[in-house]
Amino acid sequence: MKLFLDTANIQEIREAVALGAINGVTTNPSLAAKENIGDLESYKTAILSITKLINGPISVEVTAADTMGMVQQAEEIANWHPNVVVKIPSTVDGFRAMAAITRQGIAVNQTLCFSVNQAILGAQAGARYVSPFVGRLDDEGLDGMQVVADIVEVFHKHGIKTQVLAASIRHPLHVTTAAKVGADVVTLPLKVLIQMAQHSLTDVGMARFMKDWQSAAGRNRP
Ligand code: G3P
Repeated sequence: MKLFLDTANIQEIREAVALGAINGVTTNPSLAAKENIGDLESYKTAILSITKLINGPISVEVTAADTMGMVQQAEEIANWHPNVVVKIPSTVDGFRAMAAITRQGIAVNQTLCFSVNQAILGAQAGARYVSPFVGRLDDEGLDGMQVVADIVEVFHKHGIKTQVLAASIRHPLHVTTAAKVGADVVTLPLKVLIQMAQHSLTDVGMARFMKDWQSAAGRNRP
């Protein structure tokens, strides 16, 4: 399973790369807006900076809602860098756009996916990744990770090559469960990546090792 960082923040990507933990990056208009990116030109500048930090897939989302607008933006975005994957939403217009741009060989990440049926349509339209939004389903009182598990099961059963990318990840248990149910990729915020590294027993063990080492060093001092 691969890990992507879900951010448009360069410093966060630097930190995750230093941990040796990530294989790619996903962005969306909300994450871009957090970094004061509000037009395609500044989005492009940010994405090109990210390509200098990591050699892996970088998802960039279209900001148009109609098929023609999505297709036009996707064609432009796909030219920014060979590692760019274009994120297209799971709407009727979005599926039309996916079908049109995957025919041109453009890699697509089907975003805002909340059901197995939407995932099947994305796979049919040639998406490379499908991104079920786990946290947002959980927020509605639904079982987001069950949707991931169901998509994985259906894709395996039918030999569908589209990769399942668990998104909208809110806590470390989401990552563990996504790995257990067979997600191909998890995209997560830096906060959750750091939480994955932490364990209270590791901290207690470290404190004891340091204390024992220092007291032995004190005893052996002439
Ligand atoms: O990249 C899309 C997704 O991960 C968004 O997550 O936390 O806004 O639901 P969230």
